[in-house]
Amino acid sequence: MNSSDIHGQSPHQPVLYHEIIKALRPRPGEHYVDATVGAGGHAWGILNASGPNGTLLGLDVDPQALAIAGQRLSGFQGRFTLVLASYTTLLDQLEQLGWEGVDGIVIDLGVSSMQLDMPERGFSFRADGPLDMRFNPAGEITAATLVNTLPEAQLAELIWRYGEERLSRRIAKAICGARPLETTGQLAAVIRGAVKGSRERIDPATRTFQALRIAVNQELRAVEDFLPQAVSALKPGGHLAVIAFHSLEDRIVKHYFRQESRDCICPPGQPVCTCGHKAVLKEVNRRPIIADQTEIETNPRVRSARLRIIEKL
Ligand SMILES: C[S@@+](CC[C@H](N)C(=O)[O-])C[C@H]1O[C@@H](n2cnc3c(N)ncnc32)[C@H](O)[C@@H]1O
Repeated sequence: MNSSDIHGQSPHQPVLYHEIIKALRPRPGEHYVDATVGAGGHAWGILNASGPNGTLLGLDVDPQALAIAGQRLSGFQGRFTLVLASYTTLLDQLEQLGWEGVDGIVIDLGVSSMQLDMPERGFSFRADGPLDMRFNPAGEITAATLVNTLPEAQLAELIWRYGEERLSRRIAKAICGARPLETTGQLAAVIRGAVKGSRERIDPATRTFQALRIAVNQELRAVEDFLPQAVSALKPGGHLAVIAFHSLEDRIVKHYFRQESRDCICPPGQPVCTCGHKAVLKEVNRRPIIADQTEIETNPRVRSARLRIIEKL
């Protein structure tokens, strides 16, 4: 059975769907969280597998995504709660629901296909739209704010740090020379012009768009805030599954999991442990799980997905 048989028509195909269900092992009567519910694909699978009475909390900062998830999950009435909130508020949300612990959590980071496919959200360099890139449409900073107001050196630093773009200075200079920029099309054209001649397999705008999106949504800090909350929310034996789409995010997840799976985090070479640190989790997979060729062929955006799973001790 392939995923489209399971989910029917959806604006977003859930990534590594079977791997997520296998990782969380949903069971009746248990509590689950989908921290980035999006179009509800993973949430649907968790509710389906935990029937007849497993329950799920779904979070998202995008009201359009929540509306779609609500429709998608309507067959599970009474078993799910959707909240318009950031996953950085996970523990508060659980307290409000009165859940003392959860059995499984999934977080699928990054942009959904439906967000990418709406030019007016400004995520895509393939279609022309306003320079927005906010997951949360009520957020204060847009990509236009950064592109049109940051000093050149700061813009170059941002593109270097969050885009890992080695031509960041050249790109920042070109952007500052072309201000004001209003659309994704204008920005992409300026970037392509600035890096003309460099031999790239991907669109030259890819890394700069990634950098701006990360900065607009403060994505790395959000993941850092979320991970300890998720681990503390899990019951012993519960699982957390994290899907990351770029190396900056995956590195944060990997380091956190490595650190929290060790009994001692004293500097190497120190003869006696003085940190008193105790492992709180066990890594289920040391190497990230990636999609197989069949999934990549049907859903090319899964190519960069990296799944890491832990079990709470
Ligand atoms: C890749 S999609 C998730 C797709 C989902 N797993 C599915 O199966 O349809 C990522 C979602 O995370 C949401 N998001 C981004 N930042 C968030 C945050 N801080 N808190 C909650 N959701 C967030 C986005 O709005 C987007 O809908």
